[in-house]
Amino acid sequence: MRTQVGILGAGPAGLMLSLLLAQRGVESVVLEARSRQAIEQTIRAGVLEQGTADLMRELGVHRRMEKLGEEHEGIEFRFRGRGRRIPLKELTGKCVTLYAQHEVIKDLVAARLAQGGEILFSVQDVSLEAIDTERPRIRFRRDPDAPFELLECDFIAGCDGFHGPSRAAIPESARQEFVKTYPMGWLGILTQAPPSSRELIYSNSDRGFALVSTRSPEIQRMYLQVDADDDIRNWSDDRIWEELRLRLATEDGWEPIEGPILQKSIVQMRSFVCAPMQYGRLYLTGDAAHIVPPTGAKGLNLAVSDARVLAEAIARYYRDGSDHLLQRYSAICLRRVWKAERFSYFMTQMLHRFSEHSPFEREIQLAELDYITSSRHGLATIAENYVGLPIEWDT
Ligand code: FAD
Ligand code: DHB
Repeated sequence: MRTQVGILGAGPAGLMLSLLLAQRGVESVVLEARSRQAIEQTIRAGVLEQGTADLMRELGVHRRMEKLGEEHEGIEFRFRGRGRRIPLKELTGKCVTLYAQHEVIKDLVAARLAQGGEILFSVQDVSLEAIDTERPRIRFRRDPDAPFELLECDFIAGCDGFHGPSRAAIPESARQEFVKTYPMGWLGILTQAPPSSRELIYSNSDRGFALVSTRSPEIQRMYLQVDADDDIRNWSDDRIWEELRLRLATEDGWEPIEGPILQKSIVQMRSFVCAPMQYGRLYLTGDAAHIVPPTGAKGLNLAVSDARVLAEAIARYYRDGSDHLLQRYSAICLRRVWKAERFSYFMTQMLHRFSEHSPFEREIQLAELDYITSSRHGLATIAENYVGLPIEWDT
């Protein structure tokens, strides 16, 4: 089998890339290790930056987002029992859209298949070959008993997430990895209840961080900071609600609206960057190259902005015969990636409880929240990062 771009992984990065390439007249084949049903049901992120939502519109995959998603013009930071609003729209002219990642995946898969695009689901034993030549290949099987096949391409896009094989295909001597681990994880729930709040609430309390988010008028998403090695079996539904009530409590008696918990799980928190994001004819995109802690809601959005840069660079190669933008792919992406890493790290440090903090450090953290939310410049710096920074093409 032969194509122009072999895409590994049907997450937001790989699917968006296949649609952006098609829009520019470039062929691709997507190889995905999991089934269509599995990728369309995995619960993950929910905040789309303005640029991500605009791209969904530009690609014509916005109809369900416009129906089921919700634009939010502000968020709240809560600490010392009081809320402070960050008016995103007023400060930046932009909003975020609350729309679940698995719904984005459904829209992108449906759109690509409707174009006649090729997505092979449930492929096995994937490996990358000859990535430092002009004819890189992906070796795979369609199922465990099927013979191996080769997908020959001009370029490989490694959009296979943090645990996929792409990053490891780059020789260790040709990449540098930057890692930061945090002593906490996030316990996330989906609950069947009406929204507790019109806007997201990021709460820093003495008992740890809590976040109120939403999915639809009937389903809500909430998160609690837990220990990094905590086990979901330690968290009964009653304990989760008790902790949410305590961590979100305000002076005037605010409480979350409770309902049956439909799903609960714990995700780890880490910051990670692999540089450069390219080697030979292999380009890493999204979580394959970088991870952020979820506090800044940036993971999905970074995957999408990498895909934009790569699609444009590959399209220019075919159109003008120039690899100038391809050579600068990593530099252009990493400039935005490091700013999102900075923001996610900063939000994590400012909003979570750290057991190693002294009383002095705890007061400094609260003073930082107070400063950031009472200075117009402080509010503006949160707002412009939260709604999404531009891609800087002139790196
Ligand atoms: P992924 O979405 O990981 O997609 C990679 C795809 O590659 C997957 O479908 C995978 O099956 C496939 N793949 C892997 N190996 C192979 C292989 N060998 N061959 C072929 N395909 C392969 N971000 C937030 O902003 N907020 C959140 O609340 C949040 N929650 C998260 C919860 C979890 C459990 C996880 C894992 C991530 C979460 N994230 C969150 C991060 C966000 O979801 C990711 O940043 C985003 O999915 C990145 O998109 P991607 O396309 O780069 O990678
Ligand atoms: C959600 C996830 C985030 O990481 C975040 O910062 C805000 C909201 C969500 O899943 O809704």
